[in-house]
Amino acid sequence: MTQTAFRTLDHADVTGKRVLVRVDLNVPTDNGRVTDLTRIERIAPAVTEIADKGGKAIVLSHFGRPKGGPDAEFSLKPVADEMARIAGVPMAFASDCIGAPATTIVAAMKNGDIAVLENLRFHKGEEKNDPAFAAELAKQGDLFVGDAFSCAHRAHASTEGLTHHLPSYAGPLLMEEINALRTALEKPQRPTAAVVGGAKVSTKIPVLMNLVSKVDKLIIGGGMANTFLQSMGIMVGQSLAEPEFHSTAREIMAEAKQKGCEIVLPVDAVIAREFKEGAANEVVGIHKVPIDAMILDVGPESVKHVAKVLAGCKTLLWNGPMGAFEISPFGEGTFALARQAAELTKAGKLVSVAGGGDTVAALNA
Ligand code: 3PG
Repeated sequence: MTQTAFRTLDHADVTGKRVLVRVDLNVPTDNGRVTDLTRIERIAPAVTEIADKGGKAIVLSHFGRPKGGPDAEFSLKPVADEMARIAGVPMAFASDCIGAPATTIVAAMKNGDIAVLENLRFHKGEEKNDPAFAAELAKQGDLFVGDAFSCAHRAHASTEGLTHHLPSYAGPLLMEEINALRTALEKPQRPTAAVVGGAKVSTKIPVLMNLVSKVDKLIIGGGMANTFLQSMGIMVGQSLAEPEFHSTAREIMAEAKQKGCEIVLPVDAVIAREFKEGAANEVVGIHKVPIDAMILDVGPESVKHVAKVLAGCKTLLWNGPMGAFEISPFGEGTFALARQAAELTKAGKLVSVAGGGDTVAALNA
């Protein structure tokens, strides 16, 4: 696809228009406090650009995974306040993304104002991509700007549905990500590596299948590595794994072999008997995980091996952490590899593209 295939925000006349901007404010929080500002810092300039051009920027986002109804725990209000603080401009907040609360806030906006609407996922129609819900959302805007790359893999009412109702444009962040991926995927400098981690194989099957035909080395970590190991007959004790996806894991490995892609799995692991901060832990070889223990991170030998693989590559795609990085000390494998990737990138030896909320939080940490 060429760049001209996209109609971008630069092509839109936003002056005096109500511009619905779908961003990804699904940021990590702890007790209502935003713990990683990266996404907000990146979103704020794109939103203020619309306001600076005389548009009325109406920010749409989901936050977390509420069960399809209002839930104070998943309110976007604290995140909206944080965005207003970072942007240094006031932002009105509507307590619902459709209906009277949204209409009242939007009607009061002047050119150059910014408003944030409450969590889209408080309505079941969002994730179901219900056309009636998309039509309700569309009532609040004249134009639609999709600027949530990290949600673009989901056909939801606010990512796909709205484009059937309003003239639609790709936002600057979306284009930046597409262009970075294009560099990494369309004409990558070889050898190429992908690091894919995270909890579950089931959520990334198409990604893994696609990657084995594109990259030279596929490094698998996190909970999903356990499913691969188990499918090869390696015991993973109480570790997170999806036995129902053993055959999928084997198919991915067979496809990789056929395409000449080397799959790199952990050779050792940091194990514990409890999933909690500071839990007593030890390093064992991957064939020695006790029946009552769980793998919570990749071990130092795995880190060394992956570091060696990365040192021999020119392009890296990274999605998902290597272990339970959010609880100390089980982030060490992820952090060590992130440092290695950052050093190689800084030295101009590696082009790296990383994506996913957890990955960015891990890389920042
Ligand atoms: C993310 O953080 O990866 C995106 O916001 C998507 O969130 P989701 O997996 O809940 O759809």
